[in-house]
Amino acid sequence: MSHRIAVIEGDGIGQEVIPAAVEVLESLDLDLEFVEGDAGDAVKEATGEALPQETYDLAADADATLFGAAGETAADVILPLRDAVDSFVNIRPAKAYPGVNAVRPETDLVFLRENTEGVYSGHEDDLSDDLSTLTRVVTTSASEKLAEFACEYVDGEGFSVVHKANVMRKTDGRFRDAVVRVADDHGVDTDEVLMDAFATRVCLDPEQFDTIVCPNLAGDVLSDLAAGLVGGLGLLPSANIGDDNALFEPVHGTAPDIAGEGVANPMATVLSAAMLLNHLGYSEESDRVETAVETVLAEGPRTADLGGDADTDEVTQAIIDEL
Ligand code: NAI
Ligand code: MG
Repeated sequence: MSHRIAVIEGDGIGQEVIPAAVEVLESLDLDLEFVEGDAGDAVKEATGEALPQETYDLAADADATLFGAAGETAADVILPLRDAVDSFVNIRPAKAYPGVNAVRPETDLVFLRENTEGVYSGHEDDLSDDLSTLTRVVTTSASEKLAEFACEYVDGEGFSVVHKANVMRKTDGRFRDAVVRVADDHGVDTDEVLMDAFATRVCLDPEQFDTIVCPNLAGDVLSDLAAGLVGGLGLLPSANIGDDNALFEPVHGTAPDIAGEGVANPMATVLSAAMLLNHLGYSEESDRVETAVETVLAEGPRTADLGGDADTDEVTQAIIDEL
């Protein structure tokens, strides 16, 4: 079956790392059709809109979208794009790769973050000169949906539910109850960890965790913390998954300090492309791409962010040669 992939480079090094990842995907000779769309600062300057309707529609209608990064307009691009693919879960792996200087080289975690509600659902008000409020939204349905996804994702393994239901009894209580109930129904083991305790425990001993299921804000903060454990944001991929659609993007931004020089590290985007392959059912090819990245990380060549002097093309070619 042919799959249609929307490709949105965006700004800065998005225009270097996305073509690199597409080259890797093309080298696999799968039945993938790539369709390009524009978004970001440059498009806003030219048209007044950071995310033109036709790019939104392109992502909404594609089987999957690969997105680079946008500069100043990042929020105006990425939030509607996540909405275009109707994503209810954000997948953020944090894995320490060989040859990379990690604080905790034994780290190998995946965060499954609720992606639609919590404190990010947009209900914030200024009530007076002295008072602002925020309404935290948690539904049983969104929590159950995340849990259903998690049960399938872990494929027979258990997962950790990270929350703060001892204080936010109604909201995180609802989240926790729904997730644990769905896991029980599927015969999936769960352990519960309070989110503040998790922050300490994951730093001291990341190996005690594998897959972490958590509400929106906790997932945002704790996955960035885990990124620190594996040596920073530079190598990290991510996915936003919806029912019929999904968006894959490196965690890093447009890197204006090196953009245009052809020296950006393409690996976070190539690993995002590997997640895309897995999502479309090409799990064997996905594993091969990840293994190729691991081999190149271990043996070189490397870009400057990893202490090497290779450019984007050399690293991309090395990954393709490995494949
Ligand atoms: P950044 O991730 O763009 O850069 C941080 C540092 O990491 C820089 O020194 C950069 O050179 C380096 N870096 C990042 N990715 C790299 C790669 N693939 N290879 C080699 N080095 C890499 O974050 P920063 O500087 O905070 O943001 C720059 C711009 O990117 C801002 O305009 C921001 O709004 C945007 N941004 C967009 C995101 C998105 O579209 N999803 C996410 C984060 C930032
Ligand atoms: Mg974040």
